This record gives sequence, C-alpha cells and structure tokens, in this order.
Amino acid sequence: MEFNVNEFIEEKLKEIKSKIGNGSAIVATSGGVDSSVCAVLTHKAIGDKTTVVFIDDGLMRKNEPQKVINEFKKLGIKTQLINAEKKFFEALRGMEDPEIKRKAFRDTFYKTLGKVIKEDKANWLIQGTIKADIVETKKGIKTQHNVLEQIGINPVTFGLKILEPLRELYKPEVRLVGKTLGLPEKMYERMPFPGPGLATRVIGEVTPERVEIVRKATSIVEEEAKDLNPFQVFAVLLKDKATGIVNVARGFTPRNVAEGFSLRQKRVLGNIIVVRAVESKDAITADVTKIPWNILEKIQNRITIEIPSITKVLFDITPKPPSTIEYI
Ligand code: XMP
Repeated sequence: MEFNVNEFIEEKLKEIKSKIGNGSAIVATSGGVDSSVCAVLTHKAIGDKTTVVFIDDGLMRKNEPQKVINEFKKLGIKTQLINAEKKFFEALRGMEDPEIKRKAFRDTFYKTLGKVIKEDKANWLIQGTIKADIVETKKGIKTQHNVLEQIGINPVTFGLKILEPLRELYKPEVRLVGKTLGLPEKMYERMPFPGPGLATRVIGEVTPERVEIVRKATSIVEEEAKDLNPFQVFAVLLKDKATGIVNVARGFTPRNVAEGFSLRQKRVLGNIIVVRAVESKDAITADVTKIPWNILEKIQNRITIEIPSITKVLFDITPKPPSTIEYI
C-alpha cells in the first residue's frame, strides 16, 4: 500500500493529542532525522507542552550539541541541554565488548533521562524508533538503544510512558514526513548517526582521548566527502596498532617523510583509522560508496597530518551484508 504522508501526519497528530491530553512530553533527541521529526510532530500536536531534551554524552560529533539546540530554538521549540559526559565515560570505562558497551550506554542514557523526566514532571517520553530498529533488534543483529520492549525493559522501571510515532516507518518515509512538516532540509536529509554516537566508532575501550581522535577524523571525512552526499560516511578507530614512521627532526610532517626529507626517523606504533562510506535507502542493505581516489588521498593526508597519532588510514570496501554499516 502506498504511503500517504498527509494522512499519516493527521493520524499521528490525533494520536499524540488524545494520548497525552493535558500532560506534557519530553522528546529525547540526538539531533538525528528520526528524533527531530518526532520533536516537530509532537510540538505541532501539543505545542509548548513539548520539551526537547538533548543529553550531551560526550560522544557527539564536533560542535553537535550546540548546533542541534540552536536548530530547535529556531523552530520555536523549548530545549534543555543536559551535560552528562562524565557519567557516560565512567559507565563505559574498561569495557571492550560491543554489546556490553551498548548496554552500558543504554542504561546511563535512561537513568539520565529518567531523572530529567522526574525533575520536569513530564509524563510522556517520545522516541524516534523506526521500523529498521525494530527489525534488526528482533533478528538479534544488535541491541538498539531505543527499542525497549524487545529487549525486555519495562519503561515503568525508568518512570516513563512511551510513545513511538514513527515505528511503522522506514527512513525514506520519515524524511518525507519531516519535509512535509516543514523541517529545514539539513534536518530531514541528515546522515544517520547511531544513538550511542562515537562509542560505536571506537573499537575497544571508549575514553575521552580515543573519542577525540575519532571525532577529529570524522569531521575530516565528512568535510572531504560532502559533495558526494553518501548515505553515511564516517571514521572508525581500531583497537590494533600499526607501525609507522615519525621524524625526530624539527619541522616534521608526514608529508615531508613521504617526500624523503630528513633521515632521522624512528618507527612507532600508531593508531589505525578506517574510513567507511556507504549508499543505502533504509540501512538494511548497503553498497560501498565509490569515493574517487583523489578524495581518498586527501582524506589520508589530512588525517595523518592533523592527527599525528594515526599511522595508517584504511578504506572499507565491504557491503552490507555480509558486513554491517557500523563496526560494533
Ligand atoms: P548497522 O551497523 O546495523 O546499522 O548496519 C544500521 C543503521 O543503524 C545505525 N545504527 C544505530 N542507530 N543506535 C542507533 O540509534 C545504535 O546502536 C545503532 N547502531 C547502528 C547505523 O548508523 C545505520 O544507519
């Protein structure tokens, strides 16, 4: 059956109004398409009784918390920024297993949010869960942080009543709802970014230092691949190290090593960054973006110069399946 966007919006506005009534709602946003669309939909339904909460978990991309808050302010929606970086890094300390990291993230997220909800005396939490999240969690491919019932979490233990208005939709339909609701294009066309943020892109322990490396590399790949407009493009920091060469002479840059300048070099063990870019419609399957060689070279050059601890930059050529889009 064809998706009728206007009917969908009408139906959801009615549902949100009738369920929430005179109550109030919090929309936890990551700034991504799904939660942004939820925020605008809820605001349209119940107006000022909507508060958009942005939890700064320290795992966001460069300047993201402020950018997201400003976007909602421009739309006239009430916002609340919660600084919780320390709590997330404490919860993730010493953990290496991907699923254990996801669970630690999820528990910290809900504890933090539960506290905000109690303080704000809101009775509803609106979540941007979409169909792909439910399908993949049910299949056991991974634990999505925003799918509660399938992972056996009773929202009541977190003090929440939950509404998931987009749970029947896939990403292209969510974007269409966003467009129809009048969101700015940069919001509804935004690249998907996982809930646990850069923690999904740090293999091994998630520390502030390791997140900072991947944050810098992410901003370089996003800038350099911008014109290609891929479904997703990002950097991943591996746990392994690889030997590289650093120059102990003054004025060292990786470029002048490559050009054969000074011979006073030493071998070191450095970090490895993987660059991943994919094309997809719904994130269920994905093909690798054919990034032109000159752009890959520029990415490599900038990463090794701007982040000196990196001694290798790799490009991932695996589609989904057999791979997933993210690394954990
Ligand atoms: P995978 O890695 O499973 O990713 O192929 C499919 C899509 O989901 C995003 N993703 C996540 N989103 N929480 C989220 O909210 C998560 O834990 C998570 N893991 C992956 C991923 O970026 C891609 O768009």
